[in-house]
Amino acid sequence: MQDAQQSAAQVSLDALRPRVLSCTQCPLAETRSNVVFGEGNPDADVLLIGEGPGEVEDQTGRPFVGPAGQKLDDVLASVNIARETVYIGNIVKCRPPGNRVPNRAEMEACFPYLESQIAFIKPALIVTLGNTSTQWLMPDIPGITKSHGSFYSWRGGILLFPMFHPSYLLRNPSREKGSPKYLTWLDIQKVSKWIDEYRRAKDA
Ligand code: URA
Repeated sequence: MQDAQQSAAQVSLDALRPRVLSCTQCPLAETRSNVVFGEGNPDADVLLIGEGPGEVEDQTGRPFVGPAGQKLDDVLASVNIARETVYIGNIVKCRPPGNRVPNRAEMEACFPYLESQIAFIKPALIVTLGNTSTQWLMPDIPGITKSHGSFYSWRGGILLFPMFHPSYLLRNPSREKGSPKYLTWLDIQKVSKWIDEYRRAKDA
């Protein structure tokens, strides 16, 4: 059963991929080097969603592989979450020039692809990284400074957990109590605990 589900999600993602890779729905298509489709376990319980590709992601076609990605890997490793066990994507799949925040029209044009990915992967938990993805998916909750570290319900079925964007941690290196890094350390422990409990319940 697990194998059949796995291949269904993988097959659906593979079928979607060429459409996304050739997308010209918004002007970001004109300046990108590579579309960053997203990557990871197609049957992941946890889906991480960032804002949009940066320079290294644009060059490689892979999400979170530049400096922010290394920081994300550190955050995940601090609670022994292996990157390959989750799925990682972004609100927009093409790099906004100069790493500016994607605009509403760009996010609207790209969102159906992410919605399809969510439908195929069927995560139980979405972790939004930063304010852009959090506010895009949950426009009615407070900004990231207040909303990080709490669980919300997205579209009635999936849990959504906002965290600070790894780039924000790079810009704020302090580990002092109350700092973004300190708070992120607390937040990722909540994610880890949720994963343990979810897996235990699934296996029971
Ligand atoms: N920042 C993001 O939001 N996404 C990436 O893939 C890389 C950096």
